[in-house]
Amino acid sequence: MGGTRRIAVLTSGGDAPGMNGAIRAVVRAAAAQGVETYGIEDGYAGLLAGRFELLDDRSVGGILHRGGTILGTARCPDFRSPETQRHALAELERCEVEALVVIGGNGSQQGALALHSSGFPVVGVSSTIDNDLPETEITIGFDTALNTATGYIDRLKDTATSHHRAFIVEVMGRDSGYLALLTALATGAELAIVPERDVELEAIAEDLQAAYARGKAHYIIVLAEGAKVSAHTLADYLRQHPCSFEARISVLGHVQRGGSPSARDRIYASRFGAAAVEALLEGRTGILIGWRKGGIAEIPLDLVTAPATKVTPELLALADVLSR
Ligand code: ADP
Ligand code: F6P
Repeated sequence: MGGTRRIAVLTSGGDAPGMNGAIRAVVRAAAAQGVETYGIEDGYAGLLAGRFELLDDRSVGGILHRGGTILGTARCPDFRSPETQRHALAELERCEVEALVVIGGNGSQQGALALHSSGFPVVGVSSTIDNDLPETEITIGFDTALNTATGYIDRLKDTATSHHRAFIVEVMGRDSGYLALLTALATGAELAIVPERDVELEAIAEDLQAAYARGKAHYIIVLAEGAKVSAHTLADYLRQHPCSFEARISVLGHVQRGGSPSARDRIYASRFGAAAVEALLEGRTGILIGWRKGGIAEIPLDLVTAPATKVTPELLALADVLSR
């Protein structure tokens, strides 16, 4: 888009560590090309309310290592309505913004696609701790969330081992079990329970007893929040059946979303943000910036309409074998 003078950037949906690095990269990559960037507060909600602020090189200083998003974020259910989207387009026009960068997950990119389909140039940046966006191997925030969950489970393992307990640890991921499965692999958990696989309570109780008989000092179950069984149902079942490990539940919750981004997430955020500006200024819009086969990928937004799981039978089998 030759001649572009003013773009805007927003973060939307669940915050993810690294969003700030992406904002910083967008602002500075644009400034390097003589393009102004407006930051829109609180995602699509702020866009509808016309809450725009001019960002420059200095306003995005000192944020690369900070979790959350300096712009704020929101869930804005109204944005699904075409009438609301028309209102958003009018706000962008009123502020003389010529193109938009949307940093967020699956839902946010559907909003981006809606704007793009109405003729407004949009580029998305993959960012969610769930890593459930199709066609991209990496989403900003996932690596940090994985490391955070791993750190907490390492601590729980100390207690589990000392007390010879079973711990059912619920991790986030919405409908995807990828964060749970990789956390199970990273912590050497005895079992990963994910939405992508059926659950047999009886088989779990038997495996738990077998692990005890093999001399295991603890039994860690990483359970995805979207799994077909809840932590409480599983704990109740184990309490009602012969079980050598006493079971406890620990829900990690939103601690997985916060915290300083890992070095890896900072680098991806920087590269994704800069790639979004480059694509936009070169006229490639209606795309999502992600990562495939060792490099930046530009994925048509209309391929990103539904969440996709990265849980594979191979990864599940590996977690099972290594948990012996
Ligand atoms: P994430 O982007 O992290 O997946 P959500 O699914 O909550 O988070 O989506 C974030 C926001 O994106 C929603 O609150 C809404 O404003 C917008 N959005 C979600 N789905 C759509 C859709 N189908 N059409 C337009 N906007 C959408
Ligand atoms: O999409 C990120 C995520 O943290 C999911 O893992 C989780 O299901 C959801 O957001 C929680 O949303 P909220 O912060 O609105 O409770």
